[in-house]
Amino acid sequence: MLSPHEGETYVDCTAGLGGHATLIAPLVGASGRIVLNDVDDGNLGKAAEAVRRAGSGVGGDRCPEVVTIRGNFAELPRALGERGIRADMVLADLGFSSNQVDDPARGLSFRLDGPLDMRLDASLKLSAADLVNGLSEGELARILRDYGEERHAGLVARKLVQARKESPILTTARLAEVVRSVLSGRSGPSQIDPATRSFQALRIGVNDELGSLEALLAAVLRGVGTSGSWLSGGARVAIISFHSLEDRLVKRAFEEVESRGVGGVLTRSPVMADEPEQRANPRSRSAKLRAVRMGGALGG
Ligand SMILES: C[S@@+](CC[C@H](N)C(=O)[O-])C[C@H]1O[C@@H](n2cnc3c(N)ncnc32)[C@H](O)[C@@H]1O
Repeated sequence: MLSPHEGETYVDCTAGLGGHATLIAPLVGASGRIVLNDVDDGNLGKAAEAVRRAGSGVGGDRCPEVVTIRGNFAELPRALGERGIRADMVLADLGFSSNQVDDPARGLSFRLDGPLDMRLDASLKLSAADLVNGLSEGELARILRDYGEERHAGLVARKLVQARKESPILTTARLAEVVRSVLSGRSGPSQIDPATRSFQALRIGVNDELGSLEALLAAVLRGVGTSGSWLSGGARVAIISFHSLEDRLVKRAFEEVESRGVGGVLTRSPVMADEPEQRANPRSRSAKLRAVRMGGALGG
């Protein structure tokens, strides 16, 4: 979908551990450029190291210029514009990386006990514990319903408010236990843990994940013809999402790219991992890839 060419600029909105970037780097070559962005400073450093290491290995003279930008990808189009960088390829691989979810200290997983934090960006002021212990019952129910699609959002919110009166909810294990106590027996035959939706909802709320995605999509919709544009004519933009709320936003925005005449959709339906890939990497099961190709410099 990205179809990389020698000398092009690849912008990775979610560098993570640099998996995608290290694959693209040799294809853009020494005359190309790799821009790595991530809210997580630790991951950004690892991604840059991985790309440079890959470039200095076999055929080390093929290492492109590497630019790192720490921050939310909502701000990235502006940051690129300020640096005079135009992207030929953009990838956003949303959500969290395996090393983040597997680190109990981040509080992202209901399987591992840890502080109820969930911030991917250490500079954010509010943690999941701040939301769970500080929001009104109505606000909590709204987050659980809108971001978790939790059918029993009202009941879960009420129970959280009761439980926090006994003592503040400060760990992932306590949150999971409270949510499960409300939902066990109510979730039907589903295989997924009843706490899954509430954890997703809080993570999305803490990190304003949908707001960031909307900002990025709005910047794509501005097209390529404007002055200071961050996208070059013919740029390819691909987004991998992991739940329906994100995928819906991406699908709609990409359809609008086409209806406004600023580009064309490359994926009529989302590309998903095939069975062997899903077996080898269970976390790929919910991944959906969509892509667009922007029009020329005058749009259309
Ligand atoms: C699924 S991982 C990306 C993995 C990467 N594609 C790779 O190949 O290693 C998602 C990464 O995006 C980062 N991230 C999530 N939301 C972000 C945002 N709004 N802005 C910038 N980075 C974000 C996370 O910190 C995490 O490192």
